[in-house]
Amino acid sequence: MQNYKKIIQENLEKYFGEYASSSEYSKVIWEAMKYTTLLDGKRLRAIMTLETARLFGKEITEAMPCACAMEIMHAYSLIHDDLPCMDNDDLRRGKPSNHKVFGEAIALLAGDALIPFGAQLIIDKTNASKDVVMDIVSEYLKCSGAQGIIAGQTADILAENKKIDFENLKYIHKYKTGALFKCSILIGAKLAMVSKDILTKLAQYADDFGVLFQVYDDIIDCTLSTDELGKTAGKDKAENKLTYVSAFGLEEAKRIFYSLIDKNHDILKELKLNSSLFDEIYASLIKKIN
Ligand code: IPE
Ligand code: IPE
Ligand code: MG
Ligand code: MG
Ligand code: MG
Repeated sequence: MQNYKKIIQENLEKYFGEYASSSEYSKVIWEAMKYTTLLDGKRLRAIMTLETARLFGKEITEAMPCACAMEIMHAYSLIHDDLPCMDNDDLRRGKPSNHKVFGEAIALLAGDALIPFGAQLIIDKTNASKDVVMDIVSEYLKCSGAQGIIAGQTADILAENKKIDFENLKYIHKYKTGALFKCSILIGAKLAMVSKDILTKLAQYADDFGVLFQVYDDIIDCTLSTDELGKTAGKDKAENKLTYVSAFGLEEAKRIFYSLIDKNHDILKELKLNSSLFDEIYASLIKKIN
């Protein structure tokens, strides 16, 4: 994982170096876009793109622009998620949130600008046929907008301070978090031009991973400290969010998390995929919730 993290970071820096404007009038937007994107994150989404592509026979260098685009889309979602009008969090990745450094207006614009930047990277830098690139960009755009993350974030905001049912909670997790993992995995697979059958199985795998990841995030929100999280602890309770922990309690949330990991393993087995990197990802999540 560490090797992947390092090359993802180097490539993100390279792309920002290549595209950033140096005009005095607008260079602050690139500073703000770079700030959150380049801070130390786990890089799970990019890793999933690279690893899925590799498992189906692509060199990881070939998948790098798509992988970096996933991290860029993720950074947009984090910047907007932290805004005072959303979760109002002053801390992200152990540092002041984007709006604390650049102000709300620039943070909003930086999040906006990251979305097309990711799409542009895919188009400019992916060495694949036009049809494959179009399909990947379509997946990227679907995920970044109201058929993806924004659907989930909308439902999440509307659910604050309300009693909502389990279907609503599942919807929130599936879209606000699951959409990006699904996109990361499907883009890696589409680049490797896997069959429709495999894509369907991978989509199920990714849906389950997205939910288990958000259940993990909901658990650590109330079990780890602000220092350990690099973001404000106890935020879900403070913002009155319904989570798997508030709905079912900590132990049941953990049981659901583990049962989704089992489901993930079943699909990997069915697809005869062996990835020590995926194993490392599960181990790193399990370590934090125990
Ligand atoms: C945080 O994701 C946002 C959620 C979907 C819960 P990560 O926990 O992967 O954040 P970074 O990228 O490591 O900072
Ligand atoms: C994650 O939800 C969803 C997105 C960032 C899109 P959270 O609000 O739980 O994420 P954190 O805990 O702030 O990282
Ligand atoms: Mg949120
Ligand atoms: Mg949040
Ligand atoms: Mg959270």
